[in-house]
Amino acid sequence: MKISSFDEYKQVYQQSIEQPEQFWEGIAENFYWRKKWDKVLEWNFKEPRVKWFQGAKLNITENCLDRHLETLGDKPAIIWEPNDPQENHRILTYKQLHDKVCQFANVLKNNGAQKGDRICVYMPMVPELAIAILACARIGAIHSVVFGGFSAQSIADRINDASCKLVITADGSFRGNKPIKLKEIIDDALVQCPSVEKVIVLTRSRTPVSMIKGRDLWWEDEIKRVETQGSVDCPAEEMDAEDMLFILYTSGSTGKPKGVVHTCGGYMVYAGYTFTNVFQYNPGEVYFCTADIGWITGHSYIAYGPLSQGATTVMFEGIPSWPTPGRFWDIVEKYKVNILYTAPTAIRSLMSFGDEALQGKDFSSLKKLGSVGEPINEEAWHWFDEKIGQGRCPIVDTWWQTETGGIMISPLAGLTPTKPGYATLPLPGIQPVLVDENGKEIEGNGTSGNLCIKFPWPGMLRTTYGDHERCRTTYFATYHDMYFTGDGCLRDKDGYYRITGRVDDVLNVSGHRIGTAEVENAINMHSSVVESAVVGYPHDIKGQGIYAFVISPNHHGDEELARKDIMMTVQRIIGAIAKPDKIQFVSGLPKTRSGKIMRRILRKIAEGDTSNLGDTSTLLDPAVVDEIKAGAL
Ligand code: WTA
Repeated sequence: MKISSFDEYKQVYQQSIEQPEQFWEGIAENFYWRKKWDKVLEWNFKEPRVKWFQGAKLNITENCLDRHLETLGDKPAIIWEPNDPQENHRILTYKQLHDKVCQFANVLKNNGAQKGDRICVYMPMVPELAIAILACARIGAIHSVVFGGFSAQSIADRINDASCKLVITADGSFRGNKPIKLKEIIDDALVQCPSVEKVIVLTRSRTPVSMIKGRDLWWEDEIKRVETQGSVDCPAEEMDAEDMLFILYTSGSTGKPKGVVHTCGGYMVYAGYTFTNVFQYNPGEVYFCTADIGWITGHSYIAYGPLSQGATTVMFEGIPSWPTPGRFWDIVEKYKVNILYTAPTAIRSLMSFGDEALQGKDFSSLKKLGSVGEPINEEAWHWFDEKIGQGRCPIVDTWWQTETGGIMISPLAGLTPTKPGYATLPLPGIQPVLVDENGKEIEGNGTSGNLCIKFPWPGMLRTTYGDHERCRTTYFATYHDMYFTGDGCLRDKDGYYRITGRVDDVLNVSGHRIGTAEVENAINMHSSVVESAVVGYPHDIKGQGIYAFVISPNHHGDEELARKDIMMTVQRIIGAIAKPDKIQFVSGLPKTRSGKIMRRILRKIAEGDTSNLGDTSTLLDPAVVDEIKAGAL
């Protein structure tokens, strides 16, 4: 299933559009199914109702583990690099990973987990995180991973939305020189979560934690219990292709994050197919994706994609700048990494440390580079190309989303001619279209519009957990018979796609998706805040920064302290990742007569571009704008 030239790409693409079902059936043949499908695809985007490989039976872990045992059993599946470079790294072969997954799957079963149960995973980036999600998949339980940077409140909301029965966590975690007390955060969350019966706690930092009798169990004790039972193997649960594999919460333009649902068969096929083709993975290559498994990139391109393809995947616990800003490059050298997949925000932040951080590092193992999560600016692209790739590594700028399950628009490494800032061309099987505000398809090249996809693909979301109507209105109702991505996009004269950023109220801060409404809700929770409006503004390192306009008449004169209180509130409600970069106190917000906040104006002010604010004639009180302009930060 690996395309091997640009000509072949063009030919396969054409074929995939003309006969999509035949195309995907051919791709699906490369996986292990207990029983093959009766029907490749059934769909309508109205409900939406999308079913791939109906009737097929499988377990994704048999594809990620069992089927490799004979040929790759002793080959490294996961190479783990700890936060502290002084601590020993770990390598798990496919055989070892298989055994550990089976063991932990039995732990889950011992604790009452069954097919279809939801399990929340809140863990550091250690191999046990990969083991935990694979163990869930092994027994047919649905994992819902929550990124380690989210607050107790955010975790509680996610646990309750999915009625999770179990939580898997660790005592604490290390990120740079900052210890994080994961179990304590979980304890705070669980005060509000009646559905949770058991909490399994991995020892990582051995920070003191409270362990509640009957509810909290140590991971290590539970493994011992399984060992004494003698049941190391755990047969994989047989799943329908359309059974849920996982839920992953992501931000949208409303205040409440949505649980994006992916299913076993289609997601597996899509993650594996895109991994092999985009990165042009060759057996034996060492692949390093710097994302966190708490985000979709980690699900698809640290865990399921690479493992389903028998790759060696590097997992890194720490952060790029600790103990030195050369940390990524040390890891590249240490494990002779061949493929490096990272985010523009990381590239820009490492660029800012200057060339000294690159001195003496050995980049010679690198063959291919990748970027994901936000538009990559040309300066960062060239730095990545010249300083890291040393001019000899193709860069794949991969566009996709939590909802798409895998990469949608991207070069195939080394095959597709690239252009800095362009995600280039759709993968075979993907049919992007640009539409105008009226939903009319814009044909031809040299155009721009809103990016939609007009035909299903196996990795697409099936629903938003517990609220199918929300899935329909968010993605399938804006434009007739199309999936709407929320992104603006340009198609140049060669038909190359360049993603220009979100056209809805979603921010992309350091590659993390954050809804402005979510941040506003959190700010408004603060006792002295009357109202707020949040917009994004260009930020040199983060891509976008968060700018909050806040009405707070009673902060007793000490603005600095009031700002800190608001930050603290946001940190409590969402997590540190959503803290505003700037807070401007205002006496009013620019509203239309119907009470709608005119964000366009606020965005301009936040960007520092107040020369032309556009039409302000519909404003209820135009004087407010002058005051805000005068006080801009
Ligand atoms: C943005 C991350 C430009 C986009 C995999 C999208 C990108 C959102 C790119 C999804 C890229 C992702 N170029 N923009 N190569 N990749 N985006 O769900 O706005 O965390 O809608 O998935 O990130 O973010 P998410």
